[in-house]
Amino acid sequence: MKNKTKTGGKRFVYLATSISALGGMLFGYDIGVISGAILFIKQQFSLSSGMEEIVVSSVLLGCLVGAFVGGSMADRYGRRRLLIITAVVFILGAIGSALAPGTAWLVAARIVAGAAIGIASFLAPLYISEIAPVAIRGKLVSLNQLAITSGIVISYGIDYAFAASQAWRWMFALAVIPAAAFGIGLLLIPNSPRWLVGRGHVDQARTVMKRLRPPEEVEGELSEIQQSAAQQKGHWSELLSPYLRVAMIVGVGLAIAQQITGINTIIYYGPTIFKFAGMSSSSVAILASVGVGVVNVVMTVVSLQLIDRIGRRVLLLISLAGMTLSLFVLGLAFSLPQLTSSLGVIAVIVVMTYVGSFAVGMGPIFWLLISEMYPLRIRGRAMSVATVANWGANLIVALTFLTLTQLIGKAATFWSYGAISVGTWIFSFFLVPETKGKTLEQIEAHWRSGMLPRAL
Ligand code: BGC
Repeated sequence: MKNKTKTGGKRFVYLATSISALGGMLFGYDIGVISGAILFIKQQFSLSSGMEEIVVSSVLLGCLVGAFVGGSMADRYGRRRLLIITAVVFILGAIGSALAPGTAWLVAARIVAGAAIGIASFLAPLYISEIAPVAIRGKLVSLNQLAITSGIVISYGIDYAFAASQAWRWMFALAVIPAAAFGIGLLLIPNSPRWLVGRGHVDQARTVMKRLRPPEEVEGELSEIQQSAAQQKGHWSELLSPYLRVAMIVGVGLAIAQQITGINTIIYYGPTIFKFAGMSSSSVAILASVGVGVVNVVMTVVSLQLIDRIGRRVLLLISLAGMTLSLFVLGLAFSLPQLTSSLGVIAVIVVMTYVGSFAVGMGPIFWLLISEMYPLRIRGRAMSVATVANWGANLIVALTFLTLTQLIGKAATFWSYGAISVGTWIFSFFLVPETKGKTLEQIEAHWRSGMLPRAL
């Protein structure tokens, strides 16, 4: 009987995690889908290249807005309720994009869909980390990153499938299916027990905990959460308190670093980079990008297996070392004229190594750490600040990559990302704490004690 409850609780945690991780799938699908859709939108709406950039990046603008407004809403209205609103907004954005009669409408609909993604991008990991048992929290939260990477590959596949018929409206419309599954699924999952305690609903939190944990663990964990909830003030200004300074620097620093080490140059411009490297056929270049997307998924699965065993820090440092090396080799490959004939193949191999290195660490670990590092009552707001920084840096990289390759050359562009990657390694070595095996309340107590991050 006892074992049955144990497995039952875990099964329910997995179910609730999988439903919330659909938010990650929408994230991945929507940032990936535009790469194929834009080719046909450009023709149909006769877009100038400036307008093309606006259509492509409008979703990122929406993400920024969503990440910004979502923080206090998550703390005030609750994780689950806000996720449900997000699913509805996403459906409206997807239908709006699919039906767009012209550019302005399309841009507006993409901003709406983006707002939903911006919220889901931090709220899904936040919710999962608040329901997860400590021993498998890394794996469960990172299921969201797995959903992001799967969403990217699925969108590439859908783009490919609809390319022959130029049916870009269907590319957007199909996102309604996971969004509806997300919305309906969310009705089945409970409120976060940690958020409930923070709002003073301890009895409701107990009921939820009984569904998520074996009976003997419920009271212990609940009283730990209560203690931590009692200490909170819960205002934006608390984010600036001295005790949280390092945690905020780590979150915002990693948010920016995750982007300015170049991952989305590959996700958004993969085929273009392969064409730079001499591939003449567009369809081969697109297919190579699908291959890169698959590596991204597979290496995220590897990360899931390791993250609660060897820990976040070591995995992040290994990941950054791999990314740095790949970026320098990629720059080198572009700088050596004698490689011209084999450059295409070399670029594909190195880009795969780079994306694989990102996927094993930097990809999931940034989202995981920001879901673990902040105190309960301001967790939503703190995560929202880091997420705004992440989407802001994402937008800047998307808007500057091609210009940078023209201004300083392809080799120097990748070397610059490589140099930033070295800086991120040093930053992480000194500042990133190891959160493996610690409850969220222990992590919070650590910051309050004023000890260095590495002492956790
Ligand atoms: C990043 C995204 C990126 C994706 C690629 C995520 O962790 O935040 O910007 O596109 O990983 O897998």
